[in-house]
Formats: sequence, structure tokens, C-alpha cells
Amino acid sequence: MMHDRVIRIIDGIEWLRLCRSIDVQARRGFHVEVDIELDLALFRVDGIVRCVTNVCPHKRIALIYDGFVENGTITCPMHAWQFDICTGLNTAGGGGLKTYEVRERDEYVWLVG
Ligand code: FES
Repeated sequence: MMHDRVIRIIDGIEWLRLCRSIDVQARRGFHVEVDIELDLALFRVDGIVRCVTNVCPHKRIALIYDGFVENGTITCPMHAWQFDICTGLNTAGGGGLKTYEVRERDEYVWLVG
């Protein structure tokens, strides 16, 4: 589905609306493809929404959102590389996931900056 681009400027910073807060549940990822260059996976860790790239650094496959979530980590469904969702770090020390700043406001999740 095409992402409908809703932007707010708050304190001079651009906030891009990604999805509803309710879309992001604990223990499973939520996929938002803003455009071809911004493919995101959202997770809720300890109640807080976190955002990383949906593209795994191993084979560049865009399925991170569909991985296995446990104890604040996401395991890629393709070859089981595992990452810390909050930091994006690879738990085995290899390439990590880019992280993005997101916030919840007015029942939506927003990408900030
Ligand atoms: S593509 Fe993610 S572990 Fe291989």
C-alpha cells in the first residue's frame, strides 16, 4: 500500500507520520515502506516504539519486520542474523541495522528529523 505522506513541523523539526500507534504491538514487527529509499521495521520494546531499517545487512533482503522478536532482539527470518532492536547492533558483532528516531504522539507513530 502506498504510504500517505503526512508531515508536521514541530519546533522546526520535520515529523513524518508512519502508522497508528496501535499498529505496533509487542513481539512482532510492523512494516512501513515510505518510499524506495526508506523501508522501515517498527517494534515495541518495553512499551516504547523503536525503528530500524527493514533491510538486513547480510544479503540486503527486506524482511526484518517479519523476524522473530525476543528480549529486545530481532532475528532475521532468512539466515538468523540477530540484532538489538534499540541499538541496531548485531549480537554476533557483524554489520548492524540503521536505527531511526521515532515518537508517539496523538495515537500515531512519527519519524523525527
Ligand atoms: S538476509 Fe538476513 S540473515 Fe541473511
